[in-house]
Order: sequence, then structure tokens, then C-alpha cells
Amino acid sequence: MAVAQHTEPASGSLVGRVAIVTGAGSRGTGIGNGRAAAILLARRGARVLLLDAQMEAALETQRWIDAEGGTSLALEANVAEPAQCCAAVAHAAETWGRVDILVNNVGVGGPAGNAVEVDIEAWDRALRINVSSMMLMAKYAIPHMRRQGAGSIVNIASVAGLIGGTPALLYPTSKGAVVNMTRAMAAHHGTEGIRVNCVAPGMVHTPMVADRMTPEVREQRRKRSLLHTEGSGWDVGHAVVYLASDEARWVTGVILPVDAGATAGTLSPDLKADAPST
Ligand SMILES: NC(=O)c1ccc[n+]([C@@H]2O[C@H](COP(=O)([O-])OP(=O)(O)OC[C@H]3O[C@@H](n4cnc5c(N)ncnc54)[C@H](O)[C@@H]3O)[C@@H](O)[C@H]2O)c1
Repeated sequence: MAVAQHTEPASGSLVGRVAIVTGAGSRGTGIGNGRAAAILLARRGARVLLLDAQMEAALETQRWIDAEGGTSLALEANVAEPAQCCAAVAHAAETWGRVDILVNNVGVGGPAGNAVEVDIEAWDRALRINVSSMMLMAKYAIPHMRRQGAGSIVNIASVAGLIGGTPALLYPTSKGAVVNMTRAMAAHHGTEGIRVNCVAPGMVHTPMVADRMTPEVREQRRKRSLLHTEGSGWDVGHAVVYLASDEARWVTGVILPVDAGATAGTLSPDLKADAPST
């Protein structure tokens, strides 16, 4: 039998698709990664279930999407709790009949400290929120995707999961786990038509970090980036939408840094001096 040719470019439209975004709110009216992803998914035509532990935050995202004529529904859920993940996925399926896209965005900074200093209970709680929640949401979403023969999961990690150098141990450990969970899930579910990818943001300016940022620190970070530009939740959201859509139909198991080159390395005068002369 002849192999079918893929001759047309894929469509970026998400009309008819149902997406679930965890942590789809943000503090206040700021643009966090989950809020940006949800708004951009809705702009492409997806119907989006907005999960957040803070109902008001999810409702604010719903108001943004309503104002643009999109379709979404806010739902309060703590994704560290299996029963709440199960109920949330069931809610999307009952409301709209399917589940096509899961964006596992929830993540917290977690406790401070190295191995000697860190509080053990806070460590366990944060791992549950940053890592187990993504397994839980996938556990309940994948059976729907399997039945449909297609689905896309996008996990949000961090550049802290790719390189060391952060003062606390919990955050890079949990984000490193998200990176390799993505690859393992991609291998498990690829033949079922389910793609699993990961976005690893650099230090984008979202409400999560805004409290800790003086204008001077923001300016230093901007200057340190290879592109000399500050990143935002929108930059992360665009990457999520690409990976969620059919434009990425041949992409799975990928870790996509959105970091203005932070993980590419910096231009080092020392290395330049060591370069072989021609
Ligand atoms: N902001 C950055 O610079 C940056 C960098 C790298 C990675 N990230 C990652 O991006 C993701 C989102 O970050 P953000 O900056 O947009 O955060 P944010 O604080 O603006 O939004 C996160 C949302 O998640 C919700 N949430 C927290 N715990 C929850 C739970 N258990 N159940 C349901 N909802 C919960 C919060 O209420 C909040 O609305 C996180 O995984 C974070 O680690 C952020």
C-alpha cells in the first residue's frame, strides 16, 4: 500500500478543539504564562477550561477571553489533588465532548534552601504541586485523547530544570523532573497519536516574579539576555500554542527553551581569546 503523502502545510487553527490550562489565572490583571497561553489558545478558536486554585484569577482570564469573543470556562481546582484533577477533566469532556489539549502550567517556587536547610514537608508539598500534578492531569486527560486518536500535552518547566545555579534545591529539581517526564510520556503515548512537549521559560516578567523585581534588577536581567529584551508571558504562550497545534504535528518529546538564549551561553571574551587563529 502506498504511504500517504503529507503535501499541505498544517493548519494552526484550533477551531473545534478543547483545551485545559492549569494555573490559567495570574495575580491581579498581570499576564502570567498560563493566562497568556489560555488567551492565545482561545484566539486560535479552542474552547478553554481555565483551572486555578484561585477562582477570581481564573475568572479574570475568562473576562479577557470573553472580551475577545472567545469561549472559555473558569473552574476552581487544586491540581495537587487527584479527585479535583479527575473532576476537572470530566467537566471539560461533559461540557464540550472532548479533550484535545492539556497545558500543565501550574508551578510554584517552593521552599528555599539546599539539601541541608530545606524543610522536608515543604519539599514534599512542592514536588506534589510542581511534578505530581502534571502526572495527575495527564492520567485523566489521556484516556479521552486515546479515544480520539490524537492529543497534545504541553508541560511548563523552566530553564532552572536544564541548568544548575539556582540557590534553592527544590525548584530546579522539580523542573528537571518535568523535563524528563515529558520525554518519558512522549515515548509512552506517541503511537496513540498523543504528542507530549515541554516549554522551558527563562526569567520572563510575570506576576509570579514581579514582586521580587526592582526596576534596576529588571534592567540588569534585560541587559544580560542575548537579545537585550525582557520576556513576557506572551512569549511563553506563543510557544505553547505552536506545540499544541497541528503545526507541531511531527514534534514530540521536545524541550523548547523560551529564554532569549539564556541556555545557549553568553559571549565570553576568554573563549574568544582561545579561539584557533585561521
Ligand atoms: N515567571 C517566570 O519567570 C517563570 C520562569 C520559568 C518557569 N515558570 C513557570 O511557569 C509557570 C507559571 O508561572 P507564572 O509566572 O505564570 O505564575 P503565576 O503565579 O502568574 O500563575 C500561576 C497560577 O497557578 C495557580 N496555582 C498555584 N498552585 C496551584 C494549584 N495547586 N492548583 C491550581 N492552580 C494553582 C496560581 O493561583 C496562579 O494563578 C510555573 O510552572 C512556573 O514555574 C515561570
